[in-house]
Amino acid sequence: ATDIIPVKEALKLPAGSTVKVRGWAYRRRDLGDKAFIVVRDSTGIIQAVFTPDSPSHPDARKVTVESSLVVEGTLKDDPRAPGGKEIQGKKLEIVHLAENFPIRRDASREFLLEVRHLAVRSRKMTSVLKIRNTVFEALHEWFRANGYYEVQGPMFVSAAVEGGATLFPVKYVDGSTVYLTQSSQFYLEALIFSLEKVYTVAPSFRAEKSRTRRHLTEFWHAEAEVAWTNLEGIMKVEEELVAHIVRRVLEKNAEDLELLGRKTEILRNVEPPFPRLSYDKAIEILQGKGFKVSWGDDLGADEERALTEEFDRPFFLYGFPVQAKAFYHKNDPSRPEVTLSADLLAPEGYGEIIGGGERIEKLEELVEKIKSFGLNPRDYEWYLDLRRYGSVPHAGFGLGMDRLVTWIAGLEHIVDSLPFPRTVSRTYP
Ligand code: 4AD
Ligand code: MG
Repeated sequence: ATDIIPVKEALKLPAGSTVKVRGWAYRRRDLGDKAFIVVRDSTGIIQAVFTPDSPSHPDARKVTVESSLVVEGTLKDDPRAPGGKEIQGKKLEIVHLAENFPIRRDASREFLLEVRHLAVRSRKMTSVLKIRNTVFEALHEWFRANGYYEVQGPMFVSAAVEGGATLFPVKYVDGSTVYLTQSSQFYLEALIFSLEKVYTVAPSFRAEKSRTRRHLTEFWHAEAEVAWTNLEGIMKVEEELVAHIVRRVLEKNAEDLELLGRKTEILRNVEPPFPRLSYDKAIEILQGKGFKVSWGDDLGADEERALTEEFDRPFFLYGFPVQAKAFYHKNDPSRPEVTLSADLLAPEGYGEIIGGGERIEKLEELVEKIKSFGLNPRDYEWYLDLRRYGSVPHAGFGLGMDRLVTWIAGLEHIVDSLPFPRTVSRTYP
């Protein structure tokens, strides 16, 4: 009997070969007395045609879109078929005859999200998920090759990392209120005292009420924390990591990028060192472009988009004012009104994909800063302890994996960067 092979392999064989593939009916139509089935598997699509001389011809005519099936036949060249080859069908086994598939070509965006469990079968989504797979794989590859330990923090936490406004309260088993974590940073900080260089990839949760192209309520967060380093050191880590990930996607996902219509010129520019723009200079640029911003303001998506017009590669924005960044950021001793922090912004309008910087290592300084943010040091007792027993200079960052995929794949909206997005208005399917 003929072995079942992936569609992609079948397309590489010479005309005249006998092939057997399995998958789902991606397209189905009859043309005269010929029944056409385009078969999709995880590797690609191939067209099969059944003529009346095949005993399977009546079955082929019955096949509905998304039916699962096994097709066997002879390969022949056909420049009109996808991939330039077509299977002259001999045998057809219908594994499951699909009901009328609800997704039509003209389906609205909202409907596609409602049937996301079926829409994930689209070729576009398949390519995005393959790129996403490479992004996660390359991230682990880089950290492991560079001496980091992978660790895991808890998802239920008792205090805010990134400010109370986006905390998700959860009623805990003992009746108390706990929160879903906004970031694993503090737990990573605790672990550098033994492992020195740690990273994690985990969900983070933000009760984001705004509907934007770049906010999820549950996102995948890659975070790293490194002992004995500073802002400059952590920025090097970030640029090396991002460059490695982009190189891997270019190597492994050329077909997927093409299917998505992604222009790759900018991706090829992603080599360290990345340009660095100070917050001060950014404010000047923005004022020059007519934005009503003044020194001290936090920069929103529109401002970031305008700044990305100045660069053809990712760039760092550093030296944010103290009030624009979370309390744990260390103030610059030579300029106490700014933090030793940097965001990494993706070009082409995408904006922030990483936030990171140096942490406060002195106990008194951290207590004072917590108070100055109107927070209660007692809520951060264990975090303060880390400054009581062998404190060291350290720095770290958080990378939004969904935002990174959105940019690399050139997507319009972050919800298309992961299979089952969670947003302010969606927790189904
Ligand atoms: O800038 P953020 O809020 O920084 C932190 O959470 C730090 N504690 C991380 C650290 O230093 N360990 O978030 C980091 C990144 C952002 O740059 C962004 O890419 C992503 O996480 N992010 C989101 N992605 C999707 N939806 C959201 N609502 C996001 N909020 C943050
Ligand atoms: Mg940020």
